[in-house]
Formats: sequence, C-alpha cells, structure tokens
Amino acid sequence: MFYHIVTYGCQMNVHESEKIAGILEDLGYEFTPTRNNADVIVFNTCAIREGAEDRAFGNIGALKQQKRKNKNLLIVVCGCMTQQKDVAQRLFDTFPFVDIILGTHNIHLLKSLVMRKLNERKRILQYMESGDVVEGINVKRTSGDNAWVNIMYGCNNFCTYCIVPYVRGREKSRKKIDIINEIKEIIALQSYKTITLLGQNVNSYGNDDPSQGTFAQLLQNICDLQGDFKLTFMTSHPKDLNDDVINVMAQNDKILKELHLPVQSGSNKILKAMNRNYTIEHYLNIVNKLRGKMPDIRLSTDIIVGFPGETEEDFQDTCDLVRTVEYDNIFAFMYSKRGGTVADKMTGQIDDETKHKRVNFLLNLEKEIKAQKEN
Ligand code: 5AD
Ligand code: SF4
Repeated sequence: MFYHIVTYGCQMNVHESEKIAGILEDLGYEFTPTRNNADVIVFNTCAIREGAEDRAFGNIGALKQQKRKNKNLLIVVCGCMTQQKDVAQRLFDTFPFVDIILGTHNIHLLKSLVMRKLNERKRILQYMESGDVVEGINVKRTSGDNAWVNIMYGCNNFCTYCIVPYVRGREKSRKKIDIINEIKEIIALQSYKTITLLGQNVNSYGNDDPSQGTFAQLLQNICDLQGDFKLTFMTSHPKDLNDDVINVMAQNDKILKELHLPVQSGSNKILKAMNRNYTIEHYLNIVNKLRGKMPDIRLSTDIIVGFPGETEEDFQDTCDLVRTVEYDNIFAFMYSKRGGTVADKMTGQIDDETKHKRVNFLLNLEKEIKAQKEN
C-alpha cells in the first residue's frame, strides 16, 4: 500500500507534509514518488494567493479518472485552502470523489479519519475552528540534509493583504523543552547539516507564553547544544527583529549568516495601509545593524507589487529600496485579493497589466543588481 503527497506553498506546509507522511507510515503505507500507483493521495494546499488555490482545484479535479479506475483510492485534501470553511464545503460539493477534507488544526487526527473512512466508507469533512499545539507526531523527514523544526504556529499580525491569520489562527509557541528535545534527537542522528526553525513570525516566539523565554534565548539555548550543526530560521518580521536576536546571530558560529526579512513595500504609505507597523527608515536601520555586525550576511526579502493604492511613485520607492539594500534574493509577488481580508475591500485596486509590468521590472532590477554584485 502506497501514499503520495502533493504539497503547495511555504516551508511550513513542506514540513507539515513530513508529519502527514509520518502518520501514513504509522498506518503501514509506504511512500511512492508518483501518484499513479498510490492508494492514498494527499493534497496539502495553500491559500496565500488565488493562483495557488486555482492550481490545487485543477489538480484535484484531474484525479476523477484515477478514482474511476481505482474505487479504493483514498483522496485527502488538507491545509490552508480547506481551513476556509466555505472553500472546504465547495470542494466537498464539487468533487464527490474526494474522501477526506480537513484543515490546518486537525492534521493529527488524520490517522483516525483514514481508519474511519476505511471502516465506514462515508466521506468526511472535518472542520476545526482552532487548535492547540500537538506534540508527539512521528515526522518522516524528506528535505535532504535540512531538518525543519516548528517553534510556533499561527500569526497575530493581520497584515491587511494576508489570509494566514485566518487559516492558521493566533500565535501559539511550542514549549521550549519539546523544541530542544526534538533538536537533540535530530543532532543525534548525525544526518542533518542544518536545522531550520519555522514559524510565521519566529521573533514573537514566547509572547503568548513568556515562561518559555524569548526567541533570542531560544536561539542561544540551541547553540549551546553539543554537536556539529548549523542553525537558521524563518520568517522574521521587521517590527519584531530586535538587537538581542541580532547579537545572538553575530556571536554564534552555529547560526548561518543569512536572514529572510520580508519588506513587502518600499513606500511608507503602502506599509501603513498593509498594517506592517514599521517604516522604511526602521527597516534600513535593521539592515545597517545586521551588516555592521555581520558584513557578509545574505539577505532575502518578499515584495508585493500592486497593493491597492500603489502609485508609480510608491513602486519606484520599492525599486529604490531594492537598489539600496542589494538583496541576495527577492521573492516578488503580484498582490492577490483574498476574501475576508481588509485589503480585499480597499479602493484603488490595481489592474493586472500594471501588476505584471511592475513585477517584471522588479525581477529585471534584481538580475541587474545580482550581476553587478558578482563583478
Ligand atoms: N497577495 C500577494 N502576495 C501575498 N503574500 C501574502 N499574502 C499575499 C497576497 N494576498 C506574500 C507576502 C508574504 C509571502 C509569503 O507571500 O509577500 O511575505
Ligand atoms: Fe501574513 Fe503578515 Fe502574518 Fe506574515 S506577518 S503571516 S504576511 S499576517
């Protein structure tokens, strides 16, 4: 009996698919790299932009034929897309060959849901409004010599364009002891070079439970563990990345000198409308501090073009910022309307042609800067 997992979206989802793989292996299934010979196919979906949802819908729809040929094929859809109640219901109604639908808060129930489906044959739509941190899931690591470790779940920031706080819930930190124990086990295996700490907003680790200490303390505690490993983390929010974290990074050889620091826009007006809670001056100040203490640090960022109200001048401010920082990597996205978010209802929505033009301009600018840096 074989399983196959299709993963969309971010590193959080990649790691969650490793947990899903662990659960399915506990049930006795083995991994197969193709979906054609699978007995269970899981779609771990993403909702961050419309395109991700459309692609998932298309690919799930295409399984109809395979299910017709193999009535026993089990199809599971989970993740951020199906954490939206209306989307989960639409999927359930549109695709009668999908067997189990669940969201982001109930992955740990997958084992019992698969067993229930096999016993009772009835289709399952399992929705959970919110959830607690669940420990003890057997992770089947699949990301080469990198081991992902969740340190927290959810997000409290409500950037006005973003659906994540709605589908991942409020910030919940794992207990430090559980994180440290997981990392000790990873180090003991000696097959992982890097450990990447994961959270939507790692810098606010412990804010929901101060007895766990701060993110900077967690980093130091991990660096103090015996063993040969490198440590990195994502994602950092510029409003929360403080001097303590910068100092711990600079002082510990175990921490990789790289940082993903999404700026989103180079215009203070747009940052305010995005509810990002920092200014470009603050952002550049952090960049200067980072480079002051770690001259070779590699910086990457996320940028959204075409946010409602973004004028040509705002966009040029973003380009100026990119020229100033000279990032090592830029992930540029066209703004995508997400139902239920504040920006969805804003006036001044930008047409697709302008968004395309701006994203292409930015990608070319990135190429030019990279070429210059290499010379
Ligand atoms: N449209 C476009 N990009 C988005 N992101 C988040 N929400 C949206 C949206 N509605 C981008 C942000 C974030 C990255 C993971 O995805 O840049 O940092
Ligand atoms: Fe979304 Fe903002 Fe939270 Fe990042 S910090 S997940 S962009 S709401």
